Amino acid sequence: MFKSLTIVSTGSSSTLVLGYFKNEKLDKTSAALDTSSVAAAALARSESTGDAGAITEAYPTKGPYSRLLLVGLGEKSAFTSCSLRAVAAAVGRKCIALKEQVIEVNFAGPFAAVAKFDDECAMQCFGEALGLLSWTADQFRGTGGEAPKRLPLKVKVAAGSLESAKRGQQIAVCANFTRTLSQTPPNIATTEWMAQQAQKMAKASGLKCRIFRDDDLIKEKLEGLINVGKASENKPLMIRLEYRPRGARGKAAVLVGKTVTYDTGGLSLKINNGMVGMKRDKDGGCAVLGAMQAIATVVKPKRPVVALLAVAENSISDEAYRPDDIITYRNGVTVEVTNTDAEGRLVLADALCWACEKENPAYIIDLATLTGGVVVALGSTYAGMFCEDDALRAKVEAASKCSGERVWRLPMHDEYRELMKSPVADILNSNANRKAHPIQGAAFLSYFVTTSTPWCHLDIAGVHVSDGNKGMWVDGPTGWGARLLASLFDNE
Ligand code: BES
Ligand code: MN
Ligand code: ZN
Repeated sequence: MFKSLTIVSTGSSSTLVLGYFKNEKLDKTSAALDTSSVAAAALARSESTGDAGAITEAYPTKGPYSRLLLVGLGEKSAFTSCSLRAVAAAVGRKCIALKEQVIEVNFAGPFAAVAKFDDECAMQCFGEALGLLSWTADQFRGTGGEAPKRLPLKVKVAAGSLESAKRGQQIAVCANFTRTLSQTPPNIATTEWMAQQAQKMAKASGLKCRIFRDDDLIKEKLEGLINVGKASENKPLMIRLEYRPRGARGKAAVLVGKTVTYDTGGLSLKINNGMVGMKRDKDGGCAVLGAMQAIATVVKPKRPVVALLAVAENSISDEAYRPDDIITYRNGVTVEVTNTDAEGRLVLADALCWACEKENPAYIIDLATLTGGVVVALGSTYAGMFCEDDALRAKVEAASKCSGERVWRLPMHDEYRELMKSPVADILNSNANRKAHPIQGAAFLSYFVTTSTPWCHLDIAGVHVSDGNKGMWVDGPTGWGARLLASLFDNE
C-alpha cells in the first residue's frame, strides 16, 4: 500500500508514535516525550479505548513534534512481541489515511513495562507487518482506471531497534515475493514462467537451481507430473533449489510445494464457477520459493535446505489424463485415478518419492492448496497440519507461534490410509465417498514418504488468501508459509 518503505534510525520527524496499554495512562518514558502534556487529555477521549491498534491523535503545542499518534497496545497482561504486528498495521493504515510520510516510533516505555519482553522480536514483528502492509500489485492496472496514488513511508526507530525492524522488513520482502507470484495470472504465470522466476531468485540469492523438463521427467519417472500436465501446452516440470552454506551441518531439510499454475479440475472439470481463483493453486510452491529466498538471504541456517516444486497446469484436451487411468510411481506404488481434480496429490507424490530416495532428508515439509475440505473445516484461520513426528511437529508449531501463521493438527490414522485402497491398483487418488477429504489427501501422500522420514503436510487451501482488507492484509494472497518456514530455520 506504500510506494516504498524505509526504516531508519536517524533524521527527524514531526509525528511521534507512542503506545499505551488499555486502562492505563501513558508510561513515564513515553510521557517525557509529550513535552506539552497533551496526551492525557487525548487519552481521556472516547476513541482512546486502548484496544490493540486504536489510534488517537494529539497535537503538541511545543517541542519537536507537531503530532502524536497514541496507539493502543491492548491489555498489558496479553501484550507479547507478536502484538506489534497488529499495532504496526494500524499505524501504517493511519499514515495512509493521514497522508503522513515520515514517522518516529518509540515503544521503549511499554516494552520496559512488561517483564522478560523480547524487544528484538517485537521490532522484527513491527518491521515485518509494515513490510507486509506495503505490498502492492499495481502491474496489472492499465489505462482503463485511475493509477493508484501511493506515498512513500519512512519510519524512524531507536538505533537499537534498527537491525530487528529491518530484518522483519526483509522477511516481508520474501513473503511479498510469494504474494506477487500468487497474484500473477495463469496466462502469464505458466509453468515455464515459474521456472524462470525460481532461476532468477536463485541466481540473486546464491542458490543452486535445476529444472527437470521433458525427457528428465521421463528418465526420473516423475509420472504424476507427466500425467497431470499432459493436457496443457504449458509443459510440466520440477524445480529443485538447493541452499548449502559453507560449513553446512546435518542432513538437508526438504521443502515441497504444490505448484499447479491453473487447476481447471481436468476432465473432472470444476463446476459452478469453482474454477475462479485457481491461479492460486500454485501457492504452496510460491511459499516455498519465498521461504528459500528468506533462508538464503536473511536466515542463513547451518542446515542445508532443498526445495522441490512440482509444477504443472491441470487442463483439458484430448490428451488429458482421465478418470480410470492407472499411474505407476517411481517407488512402485500404483494409483488409480478416480478424479482428475485431485491432481495436487498426484504431482506432490513425485516430489515426495524423489525427496525420500535422492535427498537423504532430515525431514520433509510440504505445502499445498490441496483440498476445499480444509477450508470447510478450518476456514481462513488455521492451516491443516498432518505430522506424526513429535519433534518435527514441535518445530513447526514453534515457527507457527513466531510467525503468527496458525496450524491445527488433524489426525492421521491407519483407517484413513485404508480409505485410499483401490480395487484395481494399490491406491486411488480420491475416495468417492465424501469423508474427510483433507485427511484423504494426507493419507494418499503418506504412501510416498518412507516411514523413517519425519514429514509434515500443511494444507493451506484456506489460508493462502486473506479474509479481507484489514490489519496487515489487503484482499488477495497472504504468502502463507513463507514466514513460518523462515522462522523455522531460525533455529536450524
Ligand atoms: N486446488 C484444489 C483445492 C482447493 C479448493 C484449493 C478450493 C483452494 C480452494 C484441489 O486440487 C481440488 O480440486 N481438490 C478437490 C479434491 C477432491 C476432488 C477429492 C476438492 O477439494 O474438492
Ligand atoms: Mn483440483
Ligand atoms: Zn488443485
